[in-house]
Parts: sequence; C-alpha cells; structure tokens
Amino acid sequence: MDYTDIPGFAAPTVEGHAGRVISGQLAGRPVLAFAGRFHVYEGHSPAVAGLPVRVAHALGARLLLLSNAAGGINRALKPGDLMVITDHVNLSWRNPLVGPVVPGDERFPDMSQPYDEELQRRLHQVAASIGLTLQSGVYGGLLGPTYETPAEVRMLERLGVDAVGMSTIPEVIVARALGMRCVALSCVTNQAAGISPVPIAHEDVLAVTARAARDFERLVIEFVRTLDA
Ligand code: HPA
Repeated sequence: MDYTDIPGFAAPTVEGHAGRVISGQLAGRPVLAFAGRFHVYEGHSPAVAGLPVRVAHALGARLLLLSNAAGGINRALKPGDLMVITDHVNLSWRNPLVGPVVPGDERFPDMSQPYDEELQRRLHQVAASIGLTLQSGVYGGLLGPTYETPAEVRMLERLGVDAVGMSTIPEVIVARALGMRCVALSCVTNQAAGISPVPIAHEDVLAVTARAARDFERLVIEFVRTLDA
C-alpha cells in the first residue's frame, strides 16, 4: 500500500525511501515492512516520525526491527559494516511523546533497556550462523539534515557515541512507550566527518547500503525464522 493512501502518512521526500508498506510473510511469520520513514528534518513532527510504529502496533506487531544508515565514529567501524545498536543518545532534543498522553502510552516510559538484549544476542548468533560478523555500539541521533562538523564528531566521540545518524530514535521511543521489543541495525555507510578523508555525500550512502543489502536481507530473514509464533 502506498503511504499516500494511509491517513496521516505523507510521501517520503528522501531518495532511497520508497513510501510503501508491505504486508506479507517472511520465513513463515507475518510481517509488515515500512519502506521509507518520516524524518524530523523533512519537517515532520517527531510524533509523525513515530506514526508507522503506532500503526504496526495497532495491527498486532509486538517486535520492531529498525534499520538506518549511519556514519562511523568508532575507528573499528568501516563502511559496509552492520552494527547492532546497544543504546542511543538522543541529541535531537525532540521527543515524539511531547504533548498529551496518547491513550495506551505511559507518561514517563522507562528507557533503561531501549534495545532488547535477548534480541541483540539472537542477531549476533544468527549472523554467526550465516558467516556474518556484526559490530555493536551506541547510536547518536541528531536532527540533521546537515552532516556533522569534525568538531561535532569529536564531541560525539567523547560522549560515547559509536555511530551517528538522523533517525530511528523517535520510532524506538514510541515503541517503548507501547511496550514493544526493539532491535536495530545501523549500516555504517561512511566514516563520520573529520575521520573520513573525503566529504560525505548521499550518493555514497546509497551506494554502500545497496552493497550491504544482500547480507542485511539474509540476516533479517534468518532472524525472523528464529522468532516464536
Ligand atoms: N552522519 C549522519 N547521518 C548519516 C551519516 C553521517 O555521517 N551517514 C549516513 N547517515
């Protein structure tokens, strides 16, 4: 279904985001796949960024697997690596739960384990079983749409951020408020500004995600296969 046919949804404006929700079966399990997300830097409110999660939850989804592209700050991260997100730092200073409490949400959701540890372990195990090695680290979410300056990247490094991006955190916050289990993977598409010897370009980000897509797909399919009914 096209996003434009869903009330409250908009057409994504970012190249590489199709704007379609696909419902079907993956490895024998029912899944909803959102091809494209709403970023706050596109002018959407953080609540709209989290809307697909609310729709998935209303339709019965209880597990959320997120993916994103990110710049590597930790020197161990190389373009093309997949990183399991262990935790995040919300440096966008925006939160999708600001405002009246949506019925069913909590006012003050606990965020002491935003990314489910059992699901993280399972991702690593599944990856090993198909010959992939996953990195792991802390994701820093900034507002964008500019990439970072080298000084900002040095600051992020000191704050304990391993990889930096412009998405994902609104969705995780909404999912935790609804009690969904989350697991997330960053595709490291580039070294962050100041570490990379060359300027950062969206075309390069797209090219690296395209190269990582096959491994990512195998990983997700095998991960879904391990989930209980
Ligand atoms: N910074 C922020 N977001 C990103 C980057 C980056 O270097 N690469 C891909 N998304």
